[in-house]
Amino acid sequence: MAFNYHLATVASALLVLLLIEPTVGAPVQQQPLVLKYHNGELLKGKITVNLIWYGSFTPIQRSIIVDFIQSLSSPKAPLPSAASWWKTTEKYKGGSSALVVGKQLLHENLSLGKYLKGRHLLALASKFNDLNAINVIITAKDVAIEGFCTNRCGTHGSTRPLNGKPRTAYIWVGNSETQCPGQCAWPFHQPIYGPQTPPLVAPNGDVGIDGIIINLATLLAGTVTNPFNNGYFQGPPTAPLEAVSACTGLFGSGAYPGYPGRTLVDKTTGASYNAYGTNGRKYLLPAMWDPRTSACKTLV
Ligand SMILES: *[C@@H]1O[C@H](CO)[C@@H](O)[C@H](O)[C@H]1NC(C)=O
Repeated sequence: MAFNYHLATVASALLVLLLIEPTVGAPVQQQPLVLKYHNGELLKGKITVNLIWYGSFTPIQRSIIVDFIQSLSSPKAPLPSAASWWKTTEKYKGGSSALVVGKQLLHENLSLGKYLKGRHLLALASKFNDLNAINVIITAKDVAIEGFCTNRCGTHGSTRPLNGKPRTAYIWVGNSETQCPGQCAWPFHQPIYGPQTPPLVAPNGDVGIDGIIINLATLLAGTVTNPFNNGYFQGPPTAPLEAVSACTGLFGSGAYPGYPGRTLVDKTTGASYNAYGTNGRKYLLPAMWDPRTSACKTLV
């Protein structure tokens, strides 16, 4: 079972129009948006995030992503921080979800090929079998995945429980840098359709990896609040709108279709960001639905 996530800048345009009132300052004012809770299990407490790198990544690329996951549960960074963004997931039933980076597998030899289907992702997702874990598969820019770009930028789901092993939640996200940055790395690249605003400068100087951060952030929030398709979502279970995917296209206050909204800007590099992380990192994180206000909340 897998739920796709597609950064639908165009399809969401109408929704975004309905949601936004042109005010400055978070949270974005909007009509109530309700993600129903379907009484299922959520991922709470200490959660191990194992990483499976499929294809080549530089050590710098890997550290940007590892630092991001660590930033979500480390409250030391100045505000607005990645940890303050993640804290909204605590408002969903059941308390906090503290992410800890676990094992990492470098699968550089591409032994499953350069075109992966769902069954390959499941095989990679089954490499680790920890309790209370999320296995994250990240595919390199030269690896094609069934449905990548045409209808999804990443996906999350769970492995089938076998021989008494626990079912494990997993995420796949691909580096879209050369395949479809307009779809999966917006707003760091011109969108392929719809209203055009100039692309933002990526905060870590890597359009592909900064795009992965947006999609991974979306999928991590969707996974802890709807790991087995009976948690929080709106719409049909086959195409659920989840914690962050329900807020697609919103990054800051004042967003409108084609414009991601207000961000902070790094004076030296011109990069846009809205969250500080560990090791002095900066990230641009999407809005998340806040169950207390029934609104999509932005950081700035
Ligand atoms: C490719 O790499 C993976 C992960 O390190 C390893 O498990 C597998 O045995 C390797 N396959 C080949 C054919 O070398």
